[in-house]
Order: sequence, then structure tokens, then C-alpha cells
Amino acid sequence: MYKIVSIPGDGIGPEVVAGAVAVLKQLSKKHGFEIVIEEHPFGGASYDLHGEMLTDATLEACKNCDAVLLGAVGGPKWESLPHDHKPEAALLKIRKELGLFANLRPAKVYDALLGASSLKPEVVRGTDFLVFRELTGGIYFGQPRGFDENKGWNTMVYERFEVERIARLAFEEARKRDKKVISIDKANVLEVSQFWRNVVHEVHKDFADVELSDMYVDNAAMQIVRNPKQFDVIVTSNLFGDILSDIAGMITGSLGMLPSASIGKSHALYEPIHGSAPDIAGQNKANPIATIASVAMMFDYSFSLPDIAREIYQAIEATLASGLRTADIANPGEIAVSTTVMTEAIVRHLGA
Ligand code: IPM
Ligand code: MG
Repeated sequence: MYKIVSIPGDGIGPEVVAGAVAVLKQLSKKHGFEIVIEEHPFGGASYDLHGEMLTDATLEACKNCDAVLLGAVGGPKWESLPHDHKPEAALLKIRKELGLFANLRPAKVYDALLGASSLKPEVVRGTDFLVFRELTGGIYFGQPRGFDENKGWNTMVYERFEVERIARLAFEEARKRDKKVISIDKANVLEVSQFWRNVVHEVHKDFADVELSDMYVDNAAMQIVRNPKQFDVIVTSNLFGDILSDIAGMITGSLGMLPSASIGKSHALYEPIHGSAPDIAGQNKANPIATIASVAMMFDYSFSLPDIAREIYQAIEATLASGLRTADIANPGEIAVSTTVMTEAIVRHLGA
């Protein structure tokens, strides 16, 4: 039995999460395992109900399940709230409280969508790499922080254990892939990066079969756009990973395709990379694939059922191969299908 907490959130969140839930139900029927899905409010939806973006009840539920499935949070309605009441603050809190120190963001180019990338097909074809972004430390959480009338300040700090555990995960994952890790930092300028680099190299001693190299973050931004195929596993700090994973995501054509997993010692949360897209919310237009692929990552990382993850990816690929496109990935002149039509097609391809 798998207990999943679903937090649809705001904007298109509920629509794409409904797609993922349909896939979960189909898998449960097909394979005969029991899945219990418990829904909780989060973000603006929670604020409107309870005056809080993240209630203790939602947080407790997330701590007492096998995996969390998140849609998206935020929207113009809540943007003018004070800094520490914004949806972003709730997102950081849930990551910290659940100890989700590793954020995995794959950048995989689907052949069927080569035309959707802003880069030339020959540059992106075959791109398949995985970003390990440190998620509960670095400048996002460092103290002191603040601003007054005359200055603003943040602190980028990494403790040894924080670098060690993410580096270890990245090397372990690389072993299952092409055995190549690139650690990205700014060690030519920042002491914290020099420290990061030292620790990653120490951890590497336990993974001699994996190739390790270092790259400065500015160069990495360029290399991802110049030749994305050179990457297999990237490991980097919180802020650099935030920026690089958006670049990586975009070269694949649409953020609407990309899943993510945030993993800790005892909890895990899965969500699409895209945001709440308030402009198309409630119109049955959003692409559910990123959220459905996040369920695939859930089977991989939380349930250790890679065969089922593969089934999901195959159903997505078969659906794309059949020509169905939501608006974000449709070519000019192509007729786009709705969220629900895309979902139903993927469910059908999963089979019974
Ligand atoms: C992300 C987002 C968040 C982040 C924001 C919304 C707080 O950009 O998940 O990448 O910066 O981590
Ligand atoms: Mg981001």
C-alpha cells in the first residue's frame, strides 16, 4: 500500500495533479497494488481557506506518507503579501521541514518534440542529463540575511555534511547512467565554492569508477546551451541549480514536459518544474505530462519500482508519437488537445 499526499495548489496545479492521479489509479488497477491518495491544501488555496500558505495539518500529513505529489503554488492574487507570507516562503518551509536536500531535475529531449526547442535540433537531439540541485542550504537559507534602507545582505554557507550527502547521491545516480559527474561552482571567486569543490573531490574517492570534473557556473550556463549532450549528471548548489535547471529545462522545448523529485532521508516530494500558470488556469489547456512524469520519478525513487516508472515514460512517449499535443508543445497550425484528452490518452497507453 502506498500512501500519497496530493497538494494540487494553485492555478493549473489542480488540473495537472488530476492527470497524475488518473495515472496512479490506472497503475493501481493494472498492477493490483493499493494506492491511498489524501488531498491537502497548500499555497494560495490554503491561504484563502486558513489564512496560512502551509498549515501544520498539511505539513504533518506530508511527514506521514510515502510520497508527496505537488502541483504548483502562487499567483497574482497573493503576490503582494509580505515576503515571509508569500507562496515561495511556504515552498522553502516545506522543503526544509521535510529535509528535502536533493532536488533532481532531468533535462531530457523527447524526439517527438525536437521542433519545440529554441535550439537547433542537431544541438539538442539526444540530450539527457540530470541536475542534482542542493535544496535546503546555501544562500537560500544562510544567516545573516536582511535589508535596511542602505544595504541588503544574504549569506552563502555550506556545511561539510550538506555537500557530502548531495555529492554522494549524485555519484550513486551517475553509476546507473553514463558515470560522469560535473560539479558546478564559482570557486575562482567564492570561498564557499572552493570548499564545495574540495568536499566533492573527497567524496569522489569512494566512486573511482565515476568520472568527475568541475566547471564554473558561468561557463556551465554557456555549455548547456552550446552542447547539452556533454552532460550526464550535474551537481551544484541551491542558487546555481535554480538558475541552471531553468536553462536546462528550456532547451528541451517546454517546461510543461519536465518533472522533478525532491528527496531527503525520510521524505520525498514530486512536482512539475513549471509554475501555476495563472493565465491559463481553469481552461483545461495545461500540459499534464510534467506532473505525470513526476509520478514516474516517484516510482523510481520512492517506491523502487523502475519498471513501472519506465511504463509511464513509455506511455508518454507513445502518446506523443501518436501526434497529440497540448498548446505549449503544438507546432504553429497544429490543433492542440486539452489537459483531459492528453491525460486520457496516456492512461489508455498504460493499458489495463
Ligand atoms: C524553483 C523555484 C523556487 C526556487 C521559488 C519559487 C522559491 O524557482 O523551484 O526552482 O527558487 O527554488
Ligand atoms: Mg527556479
